[in-house]
Amino acid sequence: MSTTEVHAELFDEAGLAWPGQVCAASALSLRVRFAQKPPAGSVFSRVVLHHPSRPLTLTRCRLVGDGDQLVFLDDVYDCHTLMEQGRLKNLLGFFNELPLVLAQRNDITEGFRGFVADLIYDLTVYKKFFDEQDRAFSKEAPHVGAAAQEVLLRRAGPEFFRFLDGNLDKLSELVREFTSEQHERHGYYFRQQLWPFILGSAFMERTNLKPRGYAGDATMMQMIYDDRYEGAWAFNKLMHRHPVQHPAAEAVRNRRVLIPRLLRQHLDQSQANPFRVLSVACGPARELEDIFQGGVDPQRLEVTLLDQDDEALAAARSTIERVGAPKKLTLVNDSVRTLLKERAVADRWGRFDFIYSMGMFDYLTPPVAKAVLARLYELLAPGGALVVGNYHVKNPSRFYMAYWLDWILYYRTEDELGALASGLPDATVKVGFDDTGCQMFLTVERGP
Ligand SMILES: C[S@@+](CC[C@H](N)C(=O)[O-])C[C@H]1O[C@@H](n2cnc3c(N)ncnc32)[C@H](O)[C@@H]1O
Repeated sequence: MSTTEVHAELFDEAGLAWPGQVCAASALSLRVRFAQKPPAGSVFSRVVLHHPSRPLTLTRCRLVGDGDQLVFLDDVYDCHTLMEQGRLKNLLGFFNELPLVLAQRNDITEGFRGFVADLIYDLTVYKKFFDEQDRAFSKEAPHVGAAAQEVLLRRAGPEFFRFLDGNLDKLSELVREFTSEQHERHGYYFRQQLWPFILGSAFMERTNLKPRGYAGDATMMQMIYDDRYEGAWAFNKLMHRHPVQHPAAEAVRNRRVLIPRLLRQHLDQSQANPFRVLSVACGPARELEDIFQGGVDPQRLEVTLLDQDDEALAAARSTIERVGAPKKLTLVNDSVRTLLKERAVADRWGRFDFIYSMGMFDYLTPPVAKAVLARLYELLAPGGALVVGNYHVKNPSRFYMAYWLDWILYYRTEDELGALASGLPDATVKVGFDDTGCQMFLTVERGP
């Protein structure tokens, strides 16, 4: 709730100015403390708001309620954003952009239009089939209905997945040579058309709506790690499960094998006690479960988990509560970009024997990625190792993620990933792959 109060002048229809102090009364209305109160129900043709960041002019409005609340007659402003940030966010903005958005479809290729139309038809047929079975099951006792749905998922699920896979192959064929502008335009068109099906999948709904502001938040990561059905209806369960079983998601689960293995190797070779570990962009930190259950003595570990999203850190904390605490745990709610601004981070955090960052470098442009890597390298203790994950340009889920999930990554080749570490002093650099072949791991070891 915003509390900011700003001086304003309200101009009535005769052009007379009524000065007052204005604050947000609700998300869509303002409250005014007038120097001199105008008649109840007055209409103002404009309001000039002297916001500290910049003067703003608002359109026609009327006094309602006790004569101090303003509602707008031609626009729907987000009054909290208005007062807190001094920014005009008109909730009808999208309406004004409609002609532009509608024109997007003019540049969609014929082949793509036909592909989308056929896909919608086929999905509608599949959905009808699955929903009809579910309707029959719902007339049974819950345990009988659940048993029947399990059979349905086991018998008809694989065929439906083959259908989805076949369509992903067709999609790749169609868009492989597109420019990034064409990808954006066709991706938008695709998601508009497929929207009801996207909303039928708990995973796809979240990647598209991005309630934390980005794709790859802790809840999405947990969905991938859990890899199970979500939803009540068979069709929705399948639409959720298919993307969380695709190679890119399998590659996420592979981190839980690779990171504990590498950490274990370095721990066994190291004399450091405590052995200090830093996870950068930790998300739910599910790999700690595997580290602690893999026989590592938690009393030898000092673990620092960094993430910009406090919900991700809350998820990491609950992982720790479930699997047991290390000797020392530090949670840092900050962006890795702080490393770029602040020079003395090592004084504050100390140096680490093992640093890893999974699922973050894919969001960084080359100059930022290179700068972040160099700063992380500075945080390594002598003999320490740094491991960074990045999806490969040939990620087979690339177009699935971009078109269905609206999840865009910064893909790299082996050489591009290795080049991020070029010039680091006394460093041994390696690039390897996980079993799916779609995720690379850059390992940088610091000399003793
Ligand atoms: C795809 S998830 C990966 C999470 C975890 N490493 C894993 O593999 O399960 C990406 C995480 O990176 C975090 N993140 C993205 N950009 C960041 C930044 N600049 N600084 C810190 N964290 C960041 C997000 O908040 C999110 O939790």
